[in-house]
Amino acid sequence: MLSFIASTLIAGIIVTSSVCAATPVNPSEATSCLANSSCGPIPGNDGIYSNLATNEPPWPGNMTGPVLNTTFGSPEPDDLLFQNLLAAEWIIFSFYQQGVETFNHSAFVDSGFPPETYERIREIRDNEAGHLRIFQNQISSNSIKPGPCQYSFGFYDAQSFLALQTVIEVGSMAFLTGLELQAQNNASKGALMAVAQTETRHNTWSLISNWRVDPFAGPVDTFYPYADQILQSTNEWVIDGSCPRENPPYPYPQQALIPLAIDKNRTPTILPGSSLSVTSQKSYQGTLFGNDTDYYAVFLHGLSNTTQPFHAHNLSTTVPVQFEQKGVFAMVIATEKSAPTRESVIAGPLILLELPLQVGFQVA
Ligand SMILES: *[C@@H]1O[C@H](CO)[C@@H](O)[C@H](O)[C@H]1NC(C)=O
Ligand SMILES: *[C@@H]1O[C@H](CO)[C@@H](O)[C@H](O)[C@H]1NC(C)=O
Ligand SMILES: *[C@@H]1O[C@H](CO)[C@@H](O)[C@H](O)[C@H]1NC(C)=O
Ligand SMILES: *[C@@H]1O[C@H](CO)[C@@H](O)[C@H](O)[C@H]1NC(C)=O
Ligand SMILES: *[C@@H]1O[C@H](CO)[C@@H](O)[C@H](O)[C@H]1NC(C)=O
Ligand SMILES: *[C@@H]1O[C@H](CO)[C@@H](O)[C@H](O)[C@H]1NC(C)=O
Ligand SMILES: *[C@@H]1O[C@H](CO)[C@@H](O)[C@H](O)[C@H]1NC(C)=O
Ligand SMILES: *[C@@H]1O[C@H](CO)[C@@H](O)[C@H](O)[C@H]1NC(C)=O
Repeated sequence: MLSFIASTLIAGIIVTSSVCAATPVNPSEATSCLANSSCGPIPGNDGIYSNLATNEPPWPGNMTGPVLNTTFGSPEPDDLLFQNLLAAEWIIFSFYQQGVETFNHSAFVDSGFPPETYERIREIRDNEAGHLRIFQNQISSNSIKPGPCQYSFGFYDAQSFLALQTVIEVGSMAFLTGLELQAQNNASKGALMAVAQTETRHNTWSLISNWRVDPFAGPVDTFYPYADQILQSTNEWVIDGSCPRENPPYPYPQQALIPLAIDKNRTPTILPGSSLSVTSQKSYQGTLFGNDTDYYAVFLHGLSNTTQPFHAHNLSTTVPVQFEQKGVFAMVIATEKSAPTRESVIAGPLILLELPLQVGFQVA
């Protein structure tokens, strides 16, 4: 399972969602409804966000383009947070929508997954449409609500889709927890917590039902404080230049972070105590980490973190042996031990999932 799952993450097939190809029924009416938080189905009240049994993208996932601000004035305190989160949610929603359009019931059953898998994926897709609406409604009319881009996830069959599903849900659990630090309004904090729990349900279902592993991750999930850095790593799935012109930068603000990936040839396992080598998928490899500076690999798990030497000359470190062999580890490369500030992080984060079967995943 390890080699299979690891190999899924380097495939480069582009599956273009038909979301952007939908023909508007009545564009102007639907668009003005989009800007009005009282208009249209309400998440938690209306069943379309739970069990819309069609393959077409549900509202508001069928709408293209950003929702422009209808009023002029200062942004509300949590507008920026929810703009970032809405842009992330378009990635997650589109992932599931592409899955619904690419596969069918038999695709999962023929690959050995339970008969309800396709239905569940569609149900999660509906939940994610509800998240789109929730986040749109959290952004005030003074601020633009970002629209969808085009995305390429690289899955090529039912198994690689489900492997990536686990990566995406684990990643979203981690960034939703971290975004809590940015929320100003109590209602925003509650909304973030509530949505994070839904993502956890999605992940837990898949671990039990599809991967048949112990879904638990120890007493506490991993808290990563610089959530925008995880969001930034999800740009890996955004097709360059495909975002609506009016969309704000995603995420904002943004750091010059080096994206990292596991070097699978040199990393047979990610279990605590083992050697972990990275590559950088973009053009930085070998050129950025100078030999004269000390770099640290900071691993976070649960509520704690620990620092390991990072060997710049061979891009390797060691997974800390003292961490329990369960759940999510986040790894970043920092210029200071324990990465005490956002700015001290220069590369990553890499999100690792430790499972009893020793399956290694990575986000982006
Ligand atoms: C999206 O769905 C809504 C509600 O079903 C509909 O009113 C709207 O016209 C649709 N928009 C597009 C672009 O298909
Ligand atoms: C917003 O939608 C609600 C429900 O459809 C409607 O009653 C209200 O008039 C709309 N507001 C505006 C400003 O269009
Ligand atoms: C939307 O915001 C921009 C930038 O602040 C502003 O120039 C524009 O007037 C706003 N639009 C409306 C309809 O108020
Ligand atoms: C599922 O998709 C496959 C491949 O596209 C197709 O051959 C098969 O007929 C479909 N099955 C059902 C039940 O629609
Ligand atoms: C948030 O809730 C706490 C506890 O009820 C309260 O003291 C505080 O004023 C609230 N903050 C805001 C911004 O409403
Ligand atoms: C660091 O040192 C190694 C071996 O001494 C060398 O191959 C590599 O090019 C050096 N890297 C940089 C960025 O100077
Ligand atoms: C990288 O170099 C360090 C010493 O600087 C060494 O201990 C480690 O084994 C090397 N790792 C790999 C994967 O080559
Ligand atoms: C790691 O732990 C130290 C000590 O508790 C703390 O100061 C630091 O902020 C933590 N780093 C991160 C990235 O959370």
